[in-house]
Formats: sequence, C-alpha cells, structure tokens
Amino acid sequence: MARITASVYTSHVPAIGAALDAGKTHEPYWQRVFQGYDFSKQWLKEHTPDVIFLVFNDHATAFSLDMIPTFAIGTAEEFKVADEGWGPRPVPKVIGHPQLASHIAQSVIQQDFDLTIVNKMDVDHGLTVPLSLMTGQPKAWPCPVIPFAVNVVQYPIPSGRRCLNLGKAIRKAVESYDDDLNVQIWGTGGMSHQLQGPRAGLINSEFDQAFLDRMIADPEGLAAMPHIDYVREAGSEGIELVMWLIARGAMGDLAGGPAPKVVHRFYTVPASNTAVGHLIMEESGDFAAPAYGAARQQVAPSSTD
Ligand code: DHB
Ligand code: FE
Repeated sequence: MARITASVYTSHVPAIGAALDAGKTHEPYWQRVFQGYDFSKQWLKEHTPDVIFLVFNDHATAFSLDMIPTFAIGTAEEFKVADEGWGPRPVPKVIGHPQLASHIAQSVIQQDFDLTIVNKMDVDHGLTVPLSLMTGQPKAWPCPVIPFAVNVVQYPIPSGRRCLNLGKAIRKAVESYDDDLNVQIWGTGGMSHQLQGPRAGLINSEFDQAFLDRMIADPEGLAAMPHIDYVREAGSEGIELVMWLIARGAMGDLAGGPAPKVVHRFYTVPASNTAVGHLIMEESGDFAAPAYGAARQQVAPSSTD
C-alpha cells in the first residue's frame, strides 16, 4: 500500500528561481531567503520519497482564459519546463508517475471531485521554484513528480473547505494504491502578496504567521476562512495560500491519526514582492512509515555499480 509520509509547504516566487539560476544565492538579499531552506535540502535528501504529489498553480502558462480547469492532474510520463517569456529555466524536466496519477484520478473522481486529466502540460515557476528551493541545482529531480494544478487565478476559485476535503480524498486514493510507495504531498504558492493595483506590494506578516500557526494546529478552522479574508489580509495573490490546504488535508490527523510532527518552519520578508513561508510536517506514530523510504533506498542501484 502507498502511504503519505510528509507534507511540505512553500512559496514559489519566480525571482527566487532566477536568483538561483544566475548564481546569486550568496548575495545578502538572497542568502537570507535560501538559508531558510538549508535544513529542508538536507531533510529531503534523508527523506527522499518515491513520488512527490505537487499542488501548484499555473500562471496562464499551460492554461489561459481559453480553458480554466479548477483542478488538473498531470498524468503524463514527463512534463517540459515552460518558457515564461525568458526561455525555459535551466532545470531538469519533470518525470511523472502516470500509474499513480491515473489511480489517484480514478479514486478522487469516484469520491466526487471532478478533476481535469492532463496528458500534456509545460510546468511553470509554480512547480519548478519549490523543487529548486528543496533541492538546489540537481542534474535530475530526486524522484517522479505528479503535478496537480489548481485554479487560483481566475474566479470562481475553489474554497478552502473544498481544498481541505480534496486533500482527504487524495490521502484515501494514495492508500488504495497497491504498491509500497512513499509519497509526499507539497502545497505551494503564497504567502501574502499583491502584484497589481493600488495595493501592489502589500505584505502582511501578522496574517502570514497566524496562517502558519493555524496550518499546524487548526486546519479545519482555517478551511472555513472565506476568499475575501485572504484577499483583504494577504493581497490578491495571497489567495494562492488556499492550495496549502490540499496538502494539509492529506495528513493523517484529519483521518483520525496523531498530529503530524512539524520539523521545520521558516518565514522571511521579502523575496521580490512576496513574503516567503515554509513548513515541513512529517507523519507521526503508525503513519510515519519510514520503512518505505528505506526499502526504496535498498533496491536503488548504487552509483558505483
Ligand atoms: C511574484 C510572486 C508570485 O507568486 C508570482 O506568481 C509572480 C511574481 C513576485 O513576488 O514577484
Ligand atoms: Fe504566483
């Protein structure tokens, strides 16, 4: 049986990707941001899953006003890095996991969440920047990734409650997959930021820190927060935070298990126009399932073979 073993939450600021690609990580401005992920890179090396289910939003790159799926699951063998206007980022292509993705689509749709099946999609900074923050500059991403795109760009967008419930359905889907896979779920986007209009540049640290607190201790209450509160308090693009609730909903405490262990929390202001927030939660108790990672590492061929 496959298991969700941990969840990761992080902002996806495009300028972070550009700073990394241009070798600016040691400049004081960027060093402050990247040092918050030093722990995370080491943690991911020690807890490399078999698959990452990565919840992100497309920024009118793969989709446009021509077609606006609310929830779209990437079922392809691989996904190209998108050209967002300056050429594709010099990062590895994304290898998918069509078998698990198709299984999750089947299960989640049977649980009454209507997903769009995407067999071809270029992935933008919403997906590649979180991978870069968590891995640095690898030749290949550490494992297959299932991209899961959420519409947070064009209203109507899904509610926090729907996102949390979708996370619960994804957990059930993963647990009904026969193979022993160690799966992490990542929720990305946010934190407070507004890129347009008279309030452009808005950042609200008090809101962001309270959001991080509630992600940990009160996800059900947080799921009741209406869109207008995100927009008023966290800015028009702060609404990206609603995606974090999908990853949070997949953690075992919401299915009757013990509270997850928060192993890392980081917050800094600003990066570009955005507040950067980051959490890592591991499943605890019976849900921790470290054996899956160990099994995977034992069967992986050694590089010296
Ligand atoms: C910025 C943040 C985003 O989330 C995004 O999608 C684009 C730009 C920014 O802070 O510049
Ligand atoms: Fe964004």
